[in-house]
Amino acid sequence: MLLQSFLSFICLGILSRRVLADTTYFQSSDYSSGALGSGPYQTFKSSSSTPSAWNFVVPYNDSTAGQIESGLVFIAPRGTNVNSPGALIYDKSGNLIWDGTHFGQTLTFKVATYKGEPVILLWTGTVAGAGVGFGYDLILNNKYEIIANFTAANLNGSLADFHDIEMTSNDTALITAYQPKTWDLSAFNITDGWLLDSIAQEVDPSTGEAIFTWVASDHVDPDSCYASPGTTGTSADNPWDYFHINAVNKDGAGNYLISSRHCHAIYNVASSGDIIWTLGGHNSTVTMNDGTTFAWQHDVRWHNQETQMSLFDNEGTAWELDSSSSRGLLLDFDASNNSVSLNKQWIPYNVTVSESQGNVGILDSGNTLIGWGQIPYFSEYDADGQFLYVVQFGVGDVQSYRAYHYNWTATPNTRPSVFVETDGSNTTVYTSWNGATEVDTWQLSGSTADSPQLAVPISNTSRSGFETAISVTGTSTNFTYFQVAALNSNKKIIVYSNFTASDGSQQNPAANQTVDSSNSSGSDSPSSGSAQVTVGSRMITFVLVTLRILFTLV
Ligand SMILES: *[C@@H]1O[C@H](CO)[C@@H](O)[C@H](O)[C@H]1NC(C)=O
Ligand SMILES: *[C@@H]1O[C@H](CO)[C@@H](O)[C@H](O)[C@H]1NC(C)=O
Ligand SMILES: *[C@@H]1O[C@H](CO)[C@@H](O)[C@H](O)[C@H]1NC(C)=O
Ligand SMILES: *[C@@H]1O[C@H](CO)[C@@H](O)[C@H](O)[C@H]1NC(C)=O
Ligand SMILES: *[C@@H]1O[C@H](CO)[C@@H](O)[C@H](O)[C@H]1NC(C)=O
Ligand SMILES: *[C@@H]1O[C@H](CO)[C@@H](O)[C@H](O)[C@H]1NC(C)=O
Ligand SMILES: *[C@@H]1O[C@H](CO)[C@@H](O)[C@H](O)[C@H]1NC(C)=O
Ligand SMILES: *[C@@H]1O[C@H](CO)[C@@H](O)[C@H](O)[C@H]1NC(C)=O
Ligand SMILES: *[C@@H]1O[C@H](CO)[C@@H](O)[C@H](O)[C@H]1NC(C)=O
Ligand SMILES: *[C@@H]1O[C@H](CO)[C@@H](O)[C@H](O)[C@H]1NC(C)=O
Ligand SMILES: *[C@@H]1O[C@H](CO)[C@@H](O)[C@H](O)[C@H]1NC(C)=O
Ligand SMILES: *[C@@H]1O[C@H](CO)[C@@H](O)[C@H](O)[C@H]1NC(C)=O
Repeated sequence: MLLQSFLSFICLGILSRRVLADTTYFQSSDYSSGALGSGPYQTFKSSSSTPSAWNFVVPYNDSTAGQIESGLVFIAPRGTNVNSPGALIYDKSGNLIWDGTHFGQTLTFKVATYKGEPVILLWTGTVAGAGVGFGYDLILNNKYEIIANFTAANLNGSLADFHDIEMTSNDTALITAYQPKTWDLSAFNITDGWLLDSIAQEVDPSTGEAIFTWVASDHVDPDSCYASPGTTGTSADNPWDYFHINAVNKDGAGNYLISSRHCHAIYNVASSGDIIWTLGGHNSTVTMNDGTTFAWQHDVRWHNQETQMSLFDNEGTAWELDSSSSRGLLLDFDASNNSVSLNKQWIPYNVTVSESQGNVGILDSGNTLIGWGQIPYFSEYDADGQFLYVVQFGVGDVQSYRAYHYNWTATPNTRPSVFVETDGSNTTVYTSWNGATEVDTWQLSGSTADSPQLAVPISNTSRSGFETAISVTGTSTNFTYFQVAALNSNKKIIVYSNFTASDGSQQNPAANQTVDSSNSSGSDSPSSGSAQVTVGSRMITFVLVTLRILFTLV
């Protein structure tokens, strides 16, 4: 099954190289050298999306394809060479599944469980020069609807930072925040000093209230870390980021694991806020055995009932390199003698230091997916640490804070998009449905100008890649309008598109073109009324409720 899809992917890859839609490159030195441009991207007829095109630096082959973990890849490319920065989901062949760039540049973008349902967690907001963020954390359901929008609480206006969102089993979110505050920096000859404090918070997304708040400067002396103020610390707009929080977890005992990049340390924090132990940095209270020292790290996570910990060991930052390569790290944590030892490390294909960002994803199969952060690569390794494949998704300044791998099924609350192209006597219908994971077949119908909503079936075409091109032949080319219906693998219709003409004009689906929501991965699809109408009526309800609240208050 996997081998089959692997082979068909190779064929598709070769066939599609001449067109830009669903284009993937294989060991392309033109790609790596920048000869194809600094951020090669895909384009489509039915969509304005321009996702990064991948270059398989190490492709799958017959012997490795069967070991690849199934699922989808989540990255969020950004940087000066990215055409449209933001959240993207791809299949394992480099075909786009979801373009979430309408939310803008993002960093944390992952799948979690919230109230028993799989959801997407996505940070939105402003990235400040210091490498921190101020914004809002969104929870999207499997129709890509926003079901929660929350931020940090009670921090005198400081909003949620982009470095982490982690859901707990209690449906609370662990998030990070940064807060500028005045601080005595006279020891550094700075008068009227400013510190950029780091904060870990546990927030209830449904109420926006904070359940736990940990302020770094209450517990860790700013003098005990590795990033000196340099030219910072002089004003509220230029505060000294001494700690740089970038990951928060909570363990079974209710303690918080907090990562500080600038202190090269990981703190185990009790619910009282007290530090139970410190791993790494100048003042490690945990014994660190050979090969376990890390620097400027990211993405610290517990595994296996707190007996193991994974992290991305950057080994460098913009102003300092501590070794020749970043690495993924898996440490064994021995609570009985308070020590860590090296279990595994993962070295990148192109041995180099990624000066920021990066993550380590330990997968169920024992494989590992590593996102190399500031450098535009991710790689999957088998359980023995051998490369299964390595993907490059840009050249030069193209970064993705993390790269993840998830099983994700979604049926968007929108209609598929259709573009009809006529070229002489030939007609081609292009269709895509942003975010849909359950489409197996596109059923094409046509209708005339006289009876625009009377659909006459024309053909069935297997979905291929993000955008499927359907050739219309013979008498069918005479239809004015074309419509697609998406069929799932049980051949049940899950959605109808609008009727679309080659001049772009559209008609809504027919009144009787409704779908049974049980056909689509447990979620509703738009029924005959358009999605716009649903949103409209919600807007009206919202306005009415707001007015009522206002009048009640007055
Ligand atoms: C398949 O790919 C793996 C990983 O790149 C490599 O080690 C192996 O030699 C390749 N096998 C064949 C038959 O090409
Ligand atoms: C989230 O909430 C904030 C504050 O109300 C708002 O400014 C922002 O637009 C919301 N985000 C989205 C994507 O709706
Ligand atoms: C809260 O923020 C305001 C405006 O940024 C600032 O003037 C004030 O000093 C802050 N208060 C505290 C307690 O930090
Ligand atoms: C502060 O200034 C004094 C006097 O110029 C100098 O001796 C000292 O090294 C400076 N300290 C720092 C941390 O720069
Ligand atoms: C969930 O809430 C319970 C009760 O407050 C608490 O004992 C437990 O530690 C919490 N678990 C997590 C992961 O937050
Ligand atoms: C860490 O150790 C250094 C010296 O090794 C000491 O000066 C500093 O105060 C210690 N910091 C903390 C937070 O214990
Ligand atoms: C690996 O690094 C070398 C030297 O830095 C560079 O020339 C080459 O293009 C890189 N390979 C890829 C696939 O990025
Ligand atoms: C996806 O689900 C399959 C089947 O349950 C499982 O083998 C695989 O590990 C999952 N992939 C991920 C990335 O979780
Ligand atoms: C469907 O047509 C309506 C107008 O009839 C339009 O507002 C909507 O954007 C169209 N939907 C798509 C997916 O093109
Ligand atoms: C129409 O399609 C046929 C068959 O694919 C092709 O040979 C012909 O060149 C096309 N005509 C035009 C005008 O593109
Ligand atoms: C398409 O319509 C034109 C004019 O209505 C007609 O002359 C032609 O025969 C039709 N073509 C086919 C293939 O039915
Ligand atoms: C909708 O109604 C038309 C006209 O009565 C009919 O031809 C068509 O089969 C119906 N479609 C569905 C999906 O029931």
